[in-house]
Amino acid sequence: MTTKLKNDRYLRALAKQPVDRTPIWMMRQAGRYLPEYREVRKEAGDFMALCRNAELACEVTLQPLRRFPLDAAILFSDILTIPDAMGLGLYFEEGEGPRFKHPLRDMQSIEALPIPDPEDELGYVMRAVSTIRRELKGEVPLIGFAGSPWTLATYMVEGGSSKNFSEVKKMAFAEPKMMHMLLDKLAQSVTSYLNAQVANGAQALMIFDTWGGVLSPRAYREFSLRYMEQIIDGLTREADGRKVPVTLFTKNGGQWLEAMAATGCDALGIDWTTDMGEARTRVGDKVALQGNMDPSMLYATPERIREEVETILKSYGQGTGQVFNLGHGIHPGVKPENAGAFIEAVTELSPKYHG
Ligand code: CP3
Repeated sequence: MTTKLKNDRYLRALAKQPVDRTPIWMMRQAGRYLPEYREVRKEAGDFMALCRNAELACEVTLQPLRRFPLDAAILFSDILTIPDAMGLGLYFEEGEGPRFKHPLRDMQSIEALPIPDPEDELGYVMRAVSTIRRELKGEVPLIGFAGSPWTLATYMVEGGSSKNFSEVKKMAFAEPKMMHMLLDKLAQSVTSYLNAQVANGAQALMIFDTWGGVLSPRAYREFSLRYMEQIIDGLTREADGRKVPVTLFTKNGGQWLEAMAATGCDALGIDWTTDMGEARTRVGDKVALQGNMDPSMLYATPERIREEVETILKSYGQGTGQVFNLGHGIHPGVKPENAGAFIEAVTELSPKYHG
């Protein structure tokens, strides 16, 4: 598919080419803070039914773009589609987040885990990608994504969300062979899944390592970073004659930016606990940076949000290489008007940092 992009600010900033203003999108930009999203989810029945329906997944992907002048769309899906396709039985308990019917606890079940065929068991995701790409009509680029092997493993071993990660850490530290077999299978699965997303129309990729930051520096390298590097080594890096940039996001990974930048990725997502300007000084000659307003700032007044946006733009400073975003996903309780004020602040305040 070779439609020319009407707005390629996001891809240009990731490639550190000049832009007229700082591009912006929001993690979890399609979601429960939007009443129109809640309507469609009700129509679909539940969250996974929404993910499995390409037309409805496309509709909710486009909803935030109709409201706000965003510079990228992100596939509506979830990181847990891979473990689900491996047979763990994903379900969502109302108000409790994701759960698996068959958490992994022994070597036998890890040895038996299949590597899903992205065009088969995950064909519904690929149909969503190609539908969204077609319906975007070249307006903005489409971001595909997956979870990091470590982050997926936390859900698969714990059986759901966790507070202290004792089961998954028990496996990592007491049964490292078992853990490495699981992480290697996940890295293979994620690589072919992301490559299939690119083949079906994704123009950029993001790897979400939500839980890498709960590890010690040594364990982070051994159990998380290494497998993200394995994935990056195996990714298709060009489509339609353009580079497919990869953004790596480890929540609470601020202390490891140099090591993350050395993986071969194009950009790092940073959360609000790291100063944008310091991050640029440390790794800005190697990679672009995405972030990093605290999503809770969206509960503040539009004036306070604007002030925070200015602080972050100023901290990054002059020139390209920044993609504005939140430091993590937007909360379901945020008023859509406040998200609008945030995006408007970036579009209005950022031109003076370019050109
Ligand atoms: O950013 C987007 O708009 C694209 C869609 C997207 C979703 N999940 C939709 C979703 C993306 C990129 C994700 C990634 C994801 N999913 C991550 C990594 C990013 C992060 O936030 O750290 C993680 C850890 C998950 C796992 C997951 N999925 C959890 C913990 C939950 C429940 C949390 C909650 O908000 O209830 C989900 C469900 C989920 N994924 C929802 C959405 C919109 C909420 C489902 C609903 O409508 O009730």
